[in-house]
Amino acid sequence: MSPLVRRASYDGFAQIVLDRPDKRNALNAEMLTELVATLRECEADPAVRAIVISGSGRGFAAGADIGALASANPIELFTSGFSENWDQVAAMTKPLIAAISSYALGGGLELALICDIIVADQTALFGLPEAAIGTIPGAGGTQRLVRVVGKSMAMEMILAGRRLTAEEARRFGLVSSVTSDGQNVQDLAFEIAARIARAAPLATKIAKAAVLASFETPLSAGIQYERSLSALIAASEDRSEGMRAFAAKAQPNFTGR
Ligand code: COA
Repeated sequence: MSPLVRRASYDGFAQIVLDRPDKRNALNAEMLTELVATLRECEADPAVRAIVISGSGRGFAAGADIGALASANPIELFTSGFSENWDQVAAMTKPLIAAISSYALGGGLELALICDIIVADQTALFGLPEAAIGTIPGAGGTQRLVRVVGKSMAMEMILAGRRLTAEEARRFGLVSSVTSDGQNVQDLAFEIAARIARAAPLATKIAKAAVLASFETPLSAGIQYERSLSALIAASEDRSEGMRAFAAKAQPNFTGR
């Protein structure tokens, strides 16, 4: 069987393309397993400092594979590891950028919500339409979407199938940037990935962990956590290198140590 996920390497970052265009990149178990395996390769590769995830053909991903869901029995669904694979995506320590063109629906939006940054082109459409087919989001959508867009909009999207355009998604904070006229969303995502790749890799990894902790902890505990991480990174070679390079008006040479 041909791969359902492709990886491309660039200077300092990688791109992972969901590659099942004839099914609008609907995520089945094989594809999710391949995605996790490819993400792990990127995690282990010191040359990769950020990862862009995008879809091939028309759309990012139109959700979990409805045909596979319909034919699986509940015990198979519970024991297959499909759901746990989403946790593996969320466990990635390197920055993940979702580049959305056209549909990010259901599991497609849930995958984007796991990513750290979402950018979109003007054709992008975001939705969690599961209720229309008699189910509910199962990859964290009910929990992550509400933290981003707030209760009323999350409820409207989940209960009433409201879809957000790219511009609406930007206004609600779901998307950080939308392409300007004629710009390709991949290029926009690559610009951000390249900027992340130029920063100190240990700093981006630790900063990501600190920001994500804010979803799990009360403010005072989060601030304590940040303080500890800030003290920890003071011991890194990259911090010395960054400050040396600034004083010397030179480009830093970060090593991730
Ligand atoms: N799972 C499985 N197959 C899917 C899919 C999904 N989530 N989304 C799209 N496909 C398949 C279609 O069945 C169709 O396959 P076919 O050519 O063998 O019939 C193919 O992808 C193209 O989809 P189509 O509906 O013809 O394209 P479109 O451009 O008219 O519409 C969407 C695109 C995304 C609006 C529409 O496919 C859709 O609503 N998909 C389901 C979205 C959803 O409910 N997601 C949540 C799943 S839990």
